[in-house]
Amino acid sequence: MQIVNDVPSCGDTTAHRWARDLLRALGHAARARGYVRIASAHISGVSYWNLGETGLHFLETLAETGARACVPATLNPCAFFPPAPPDWVSEEDIRSQARVLSAYEALGVQPSCTCAPYRSLPPPLFGEHAAWAESSAATFANSVLGVRTEREGGPAALAAALCGYVPFSGLHLDENRRPDVALRVRDPLQEPWRMGLLGAWLGQRFPGAIPFLYVPDEAPCSIEGFQALSAALVTYGGEAMFCVAGRTPEAGAAPPVRAEVGSSDLDALALQLSDLENGPIDMVFLGCPHGSSPSNGVVPPLAPESARARLVIACAPVRAAKFPGFCLPGGCPAVSVLAPGVRRVVTDSAKAAFYLRSRGLRVGLASTDACFEAAITGRWSHAR
Ligand code: F3S
Repeated sequence: MQIVNDVPSCGDTTAHRWARDLLRALGHAARARGYVRIASAHISGVSYWNLGETGLHFLETLAETGARACVPATLNPCAFFPPAPPDWVSEEDIRSQARVLSAYEALGVQPSCTCAPYRSLPPPLFGEHAAWAESSAATFANSVLGVRTEREGGPAALAAALCGYVPFSGLHLDENRRPDVALRVRDPLQEPWRMGLLGAWLGQRFPGAIPFLYVPDEAPCSIEGFQALSAALVTYGGEAMFCVAGRTPEAGAAPPVRAEVGSSDLDALALQLSDLENGPIDMVFLGCPHGSSPSNGVVPPLAPESARARLVIACAPVRAAKFPGFCLPGGCPAVSVLAPGVRRVVTDSAKAAFYLRSRGLRVGLASTDACFEAAITGRWSHAR
């Protein structure tokens, strides 16, 4: 682990000076114990709809300086991948989104366009430090990979990519990675979407805490389940880290068990997080986080023309060919303009439910199978 007192000079462009100043200011605000060398950066702020003209201009200005990332750096999802745009976006939208990706590429950032970079590229090693801006990926990194990262903002992750360092504070420090509260999970939670509900439940009940979980021996704890748990935990208020006894690499000493949670609690929460009444729907959104659902090719034989509701499966560009007709490769509906008329949406992701509701949509949250059923019938029938 390489720690220095000040952000090293990594280049003399205005982009490098901006990056260094930002990291110094963040380090000062966090009362950091110096700056630690990172193994990789993962950068958010890729959707043209989020960045707008101002954000695009800022990125292109940085890129014109010739500055380049000095560590491996990857990108979060954009609104859509310009080579495979959905049919409801304009030529101008496609050009603007392509300019964003070009600016990042000029800055030495790989256009991976995924919120799960650890699934398609080699992640840092256990104990290494990183600057990952996507909250679900940062939580997965801390909890499942044992990689140390704060939940960075997009500009901070870009600055870290240019300088190769981040403030040595927060979850980079041993003392901030210890669990705050231990819980017993009564039921195995076989399906990934149930792990997402567990994350939402934990985030709501214990905001800002690192939970330590005891799960039943037969609980599968798949990568997809951990992805769903990671995404929902931070979305609903938790810290960007959890531990699972016997399953995650830093699950050491735990505080005494303070609470239990079981399937009935999660069923009640699923109803609470849904505000969609029974009836016709416009869209089904799966694949949040990327690659978490539907996973391992478990997709019903559903031809695009047989779906009554628009089925959108977000995924990394490299997985696009897997679900022809439905994919939003490299994209995410939470940061994208939706097809005209979409108001009523169904998803299996607690994180997606949160963000879609915050955009004013009516959302139903249910299992992956129920979502496929809704795509085929065009209707929602799981309201209480
Ligand atoms: Fe990824 Fe979008 Fe979900 S960025 S975690 S698919 S809300």
